[in-house]
Amino acid sequence: MKLRRWIVVGAVALATVGTLNSLPASAGGQPRPADQSLRALGMRHDLYIGTAVDMAALNDPADPQYRQLVGSQFSSVTAENVMKWESLEPTRGTYNWGPADQLIAYAKQNNQRVRGHVLVWHNQLPGWLTTGVADGSIDTAELRDILRNHITTVVKHFKGKIWQWDVVNEAVSDPWDNPPALHYKGFWAQHLGPGYVADAFRWARAADPNALLFYNDYNIEAFGSGNPADDKTQFVYDMVKRLRATGVPIDGVGSQGHLGTQYGNYDTLQVADALERFGDLGLATAFTEVDVRSQMTPGVQAGDSNEINPRLQASAANYSVLLQACLLSRHCLSFTVWGFTDRHSWIPGWFDNPPEGLATLYDENYQPKRAYQTVKADLIFAGAPHVLPRIPQKPRR
Ligand code: XIL
Repeated sequence: MKLRRWIVVGAVALATVGTLNSLPASAGGQPRPADQSLRALGMRHDLYIGTAVDMAALNDPADPQYRQLVGSQFSSVTAENVMKWESLEPTRGTYNWGPADQLIAYAKQNNQRVRGHVLVWHNQLPGWLTTGVADGSIDTAELRDILRNHITTVVKHFKGKIWQWDVVNEAVSDPWDNPPALHYKGFWAQHLGPGYVADAFRWARAADPNALLFYNDYNIEAFGSGNPADDKTQFVYDMVKRLRATGVPIDGVGSQGHLGTQYGNYDTLQVADALERFGDLGLATAFTEVDVRSQMTPGVQAGDSNEINPRLQASAANYSVLLQACLLSRHCLSFTVWGFTDRHSWIPGWFDNPPEGLATLYDENYQPKRAYQTVKADLIFAGAPHVLPRIPQKPRR
């Protein structure tokens, strides 16, 4: 009799433990969440963890792990290329929506948010546009109409489906450009003057009142000298402050977060300070394209662990700096990596002299690297009082 009672009690206890383990993290009693994916751990802080998506890899039946990990690890996606102008409108007047629509449908199926990338940028423009401007067949007035039309058409097409739009990308020069004093650079500034930035935000807002509108750039992780002549973060800060002050509908600043282990980079509190200062302007922030690359010395390429290990550790530490800073700032809404596996990363193709690589969270065989474990641990250990849920951003009217 006694024995039978103990068996029943034991069974009830086991069943209770089973139930507790399967409860979501937000339920009472703080059970250990069963889902230890980055997306689930990020949600404890209302932080969306995103990745850029390469549509060819997503659709490759020979590479099923890619698709599986995009869906299971991430709560936000960005098109790595298929929403760029050259992809959307390769021939003037003929839009190719297919691949971008496919990503939107995939995101819906997987309960993910979408960052729209990108409306106005000087790279990956269609040939008909750059050639037309170069040979004079498209004049300034027509170019402005073309830009307004592009923004309006694209934003309306995706209306209601995009959480954050990168409206203007990389508009500001770097100190190593010529002239070295920071300035508005590239195709659009050259042909339309810097006023195109404000115009672009106004046109985007008119086409979708509910999407959050971002300015996006690299090398703006922290403030440097404070001298606007060579401090890109300060230059961007002054620019977005002016845009806010003049009623331009900008809602956020995206910090790309392309770092390299060969550089000094920053510490967490410096980066958090920059995010907070943008937040104090009433802007949301986000890390939008994080990766931390390393030089592929002959030793690394030969598999020498003495050369590989310090790079993997430095890469992990830099991921951690950006993520911890984002966690600290309640206006930092999402943390997106620019590809999650070294198997599909833009780094080796773009930084080849000297060759660079090892920039992402997973290796070429989809094994999580130290950077992945560090990001995961940061999400696990973060909590009150310093890490609190995100403050949602409302689109500026
Ligand atoms: C890169 C893509 O990853 C590559 O596949 C493509 O060939 C070039 O563009 N900053 C940006 C991104 O805003 O759009 C870039 O993406 C990387 C740098």
